[in-house]
Amino acid sequence: MNTTIHGVSVPVLGFGTWPLTGAAAVAAVTDALAVGYRHLDTARMYRNEREVGRALRQSGVNRSEVFLTTKIWHTDAEPARVHRSAEAGLRELDTDYVDLLLLHWPSDHVTPEQTLEAMFELQYREKVRHVGVSNFPPRLLERATHVGPIFCNQVEYHPFLSQQPLLDLCGRKDVLLTAYSPLATGKVHGDATLREIGEAHGKSPAQVTLRWLIQQPGVAAIPKASTPEHRRGNFDVFDFELTEAEMGRIFALDRGERLINPGFAPQWES
Ligand SMILES: NC(=O)c1ccc[n+]([C@@H]2O[C@H](COP(=O)([O-])OP(=O)(O)OC[C@H]3O[C@@H](n4cnc5c(N)ncnc54)[C@H](OP(=O)(O)O)[C@@H]3O)[C@@H](O)[C@H]2O)c1
Repeated sequence: MNTTIHGVSVPVLGFGTWPLTGAAAVAAVTDALAVGYRHLDTARMYRNEREVGRALRQSGVNRSEVFLTTKIWHTDAEPARVHRSAEAGLRELDTDYVDLLLLHWPSDHVTPEQTLEAMFELQYREKVRHVGVSNFPPRLLERATHVGPIFCNQVEYHPFLSQQPLLDLCGRKDVLLTAYSPLATGKVHGDATLREIGEAHGKSPAQVTLRWLIQQPGVAAIPKASTPEHRRGNFDVFDFELTEAEMGRIFALDRGERLINPGFAPQWES
């Protein structure tokens, strides 16, 4: 199942690779590709680009069939460092291009304009198909869209954390909202409402959550799973549909619960 952003088709369900490293990362990505995932999420900071690249190369899946995302860390936001960091990522991933390059977090010492202009140069040089951001609140995303075509904003999004203002802005600007920690790092498993909705469809709370996310227009989700059963279960969400009423019950689970909030995070609410 895909969504279309800027006329480009993107698989709405991707595989998140943090914090998988080493042989476990190679094994997990190899298995994810065998299961059918065609959207992979990595980052310079995850220290697993080499392993993701190896798994992709060995899988026999054509590079052109996979939507591959990596990210530049915020301390590399200065233009010369953006170029060096992206080139190192391409070398480690062993690919000529990535489908999407994101700025992982806003920088507090380099303006988004400076960083994004450097990223758009990489797009011009065909090292990067699309440019995007991550962890950008609405005011910063609005500003970023004035620099050039922003393809994606990757943010924490799950039933316990609403992203309504950002979703509205993404819809207006044709920006993909990619939900990270889509399972609330596993917490959805214990939720009674998600369990009850799942029972009506023969699905787990995790499957209901992923279906709720990808049933929203312009939203993708990138669950991480180190266990093969979870990887398969999370991909088994294309054979059922949630009703409007069920979607509404899940939206009502919002309790403003932000799980990823490091000291360098931006002011979220504006
Ligand atoms: N841009 C950013 O700043 C940022 C920040 C955080 C994450 N991310 C990206 O988003 C990805 C996912 O986020 P995340 O890892 O924080 O959280 P998540 O995907 O919401 O949750 C992962 C946790 O849920 C468990 N799980 C997976 N499938 C399950 C299922 N079907 N039933 C029950 N539990 C299940 C996993 O267990 P097992 O591993 O044991 O299977 C793991 O403990 C990361 O891998 C990374 O690529 C991006």
